[in-house]
Amino acid sequence: MTKRARSMLRQMDRITRSWFLPTIGREKATFIGRLIDKRRPKRAVEIGSLIGYSAIVVAGHLPPGGRLTCIELNPYMAMIAEENLAAAGLATRTRVITGDARRVLPFLGSRFDFALIDATKEEYFEYLRALEPRLAKGALVVADNTRLYRSRLKDYLAHVRRSGRYESREQGFGKDAMEVSRFLG
Ligand SMILES: C[S@@+](CC[C@H](N)C(=O)[O-])C[C@H]1O[C@@H](n2cnc3c(N)ncnc32)[C@H](O)[C@@H]1O
Repeated sequence: MTKRARSMLRQMDRITRSWFLPTIGREKATFIGRLIDKRRPKRAVEIGSLIGYSAIVVAGHLPPGGRLTCIELNPYMAMIAEENLAAAGLATRTRVITGDARRVLPFLGSRFDFALIDATKEEYFEYLRALEPRLAKGALVVADNTRLYRSRLKDYLAHVRRSGRYESREQGFGKDAMEVSRFLG
């Protein structure tokens, strides 16, 4: 990750603390950064971008030639995410699409090898169903807040853990967790 992107994340850490914005935060950002450094995905998608914090983490760690597509429902947030990605020097490797991920995903042409899901909890399974035909074999799907909102994510967690289509594990972060699932194809 470049110095410019790191400095942008530091500024955003201060803003999110004082405004109580629900970004993934530092600890999960470090985890995701390591995951991407290790797996080196080339085509990533993010569902739920808010002000672009996690998007900077994902895009900032992609290898050369990597691209991130962000899908954000709120047009104002989508605009801010786009501005923050540009300020972090990541405009050329990202695109922000404004809309409901459930409607946008079926129209995306790419095959993704990394996905971060962090939007409306009750909709995670719908996102995954729309995303699945676009996942490359071996793709990693990371879902945030799976411990905090476990009861709202039952269908999602049952699918990634028991459908036989994924190898899945929970990565704990205190009271919360992320579910990291590898698509088996
Ligand atoms: C928790 S915030 C995302 C935080 C962001 N991932 C980060 O860590 O910087 C959730 C975001 O998901 C967006 N969202 C909710 N439902 C959505 C949907 N169906 N499609 C796309 N975005 C959605 C909300 O507008 C909100 O900005």
